[in-house]
Amino acid sequence: MLNDTDFRRHFPLICHEQIVYLDSAATAQKPQQVIDAITEFYSSGNANVHRAAHQLSAKATAQFELARTTVTKFIHAHSSKEIIFTKGTTEAINLIAQSYGRTNLKAGDQIVLALSEHHANIVPWQLLAEQTGAEIKVIGLTDTAEIDLDHAKSLITDQVKIVAIAHASNVTGVINPIKEIIALAKQVNAITVIDGAQAIAHLEVNVTELDCDFYAFSGHKLYGPTGIGVLYGKQQLLEAMPPWQGGGEMIKRVSFSGTTFNQLPFKFEPGTPNISGVIGLAKAIDFINSFDRAALNRHETQLMELARTQLLAIDGLRIIGDVKNKLSIISFVIDDEHPSDIATLLDQQNIALRAGHHCAMPFMEHLNIAGTVRASFAPYNTVADVDKFIAAVTKASHFF
Ligand code: ALA
Repeated sequence: MLNDTDFRRHFPLICHEQIVYLDSAATAQKPQQVIDAITEFYSSGNANVHRAAHQLSAKATAQFELARTTVTKFIHAHSSKEIIFTKGTTEAINLIAQSYGRTNLKAGDQIVLALSEHHANIVPWQLLAEQTGAEIKVIGLTDTAEIDLDHAKSLITDQVKIVAIAHASNVTGVINPIKEIIALAKQVNAITVIDGAQAIAHLEVNVTELDCDFYAFSGHKLYGPTGIGVLYGKQQLLEAMPPWQGGGEMIKRVSFSGTTFNQLPFKFEPGTPNISGVIGLAKAIDFINSFDRAALNRHETQLMELARTQLLAIDGLRIIGDVKNKLSIISFVIDDEHPSDIATLLDQQNIALRAGHHCAMPFMEHLNIAGTVRASFAPYNTVADVDKFIAAVTKASHFF
C-alpha cells in the first residue's frame, strides 16, 4: 500500500482540517502545486494569450500552449489540434451535440445512451433530439447495475448516429464496457462520445487505442481547478464541424459581409480562455505523472475494499453496483433510512460525502430509490479515514 502520507501531504485542505473527505467524485481536493501555479500566474505571469504584442503575453501564450501539449500526451491524442479547452465535461458534450449533432442529425436518426448516465450526458442530447427530430434510445442495465451488452447490441442499428456513454458511472463507479460499445458503434458508422468525467482521475486513458471519436473530461476531478475541461475530438471530425459559439479568438477575418474562422483548436475556443485554469490543469497532470499511477489506484481500491467488507456487515445495508470492475466509489442504501438523513449524521461527525440522486435521476427511478449515499475514495484517503467512516455509518444505522 502507498504510504499514507506520500500523496496526502501535498493537499493542504485535508492535511490541516479534521475532515474525512470522501467526496472526490464530486470534486477532488487540490495539491499545493496546483494552488501555487495559479497564484504564480496571477502574481507574475498574468496577460492575455494569442493577442498582444508584448513579452508577458508571449510568455502566457507559450505556457498555455504547453499545457495543451501536456493534455495531448496525457490522453495519447495524435495532435494538440484535437484538444479543445472547455468549461468542463458538460460544456464539451453540449459542444458536440450543438456542432456535430445539429449539422449531421435529422428526423428519424437515433442517439444511444445508457440508463446510468448522469444529466450532463442526457440533457444535451434531449435538446438536440428536440431540435432535429432525432430519437433517444436507452441501453438498460443488468441486476448488478452494469450495462446490458445484449440490449446494446440490439439497439445499435443503422439508424444510430451517435452513441454517448460514460467511461464509468459517477453513481456506482462501475466501469462500462466502452471498448465493446465503440466496436458496436463502428459497425453501423455511428460516432462515439465517451464521458470521462469520473474515469479520468482513476484510469489510464488512451484515446488513440480506444479509437473513440470524442472524449470529454473535467479538470476539477483530476486535482485541477474548477471551470476547466477538455474535449478531445478526432481532427477530421473537428475540421468538418462548424463553430458552436462565436466571438474573438475563433475567427480568422471578420467583416459585415461575412466571417472566416480560425484553425483548430481555436475555432472552438471563443473569447479569452480560462488561462489560469488551463495552467492549473497542466500542473495537476504533471503532479499525477510524478507518481506511479498503478500504485495510486491500488491504494484507493484497497481502501474501498476495506470499507466495502465492513459496510456489508451492517444490517439492511445494500451496495448498488457491487461488482469487481469499478472505480473506488461505493454507493449504498440502508433499509428505511433516507440517504440525506444518513449524510447529515455523517457530516456531524466530519465525514464529507454526497447523498441524493447524483445528477442521475433516471438511474434512481430505475432502481426505485430516492437516492444513495456515495463515498468516493482517492489516493489521499487513509485507513484511518475508512475506520472513522465505518464507525460513523454504524452509528447512523442505529440512530433511526
Ligand atoms: N458529477 C459530479 C458528481 O457525481 C458532480 O458528484
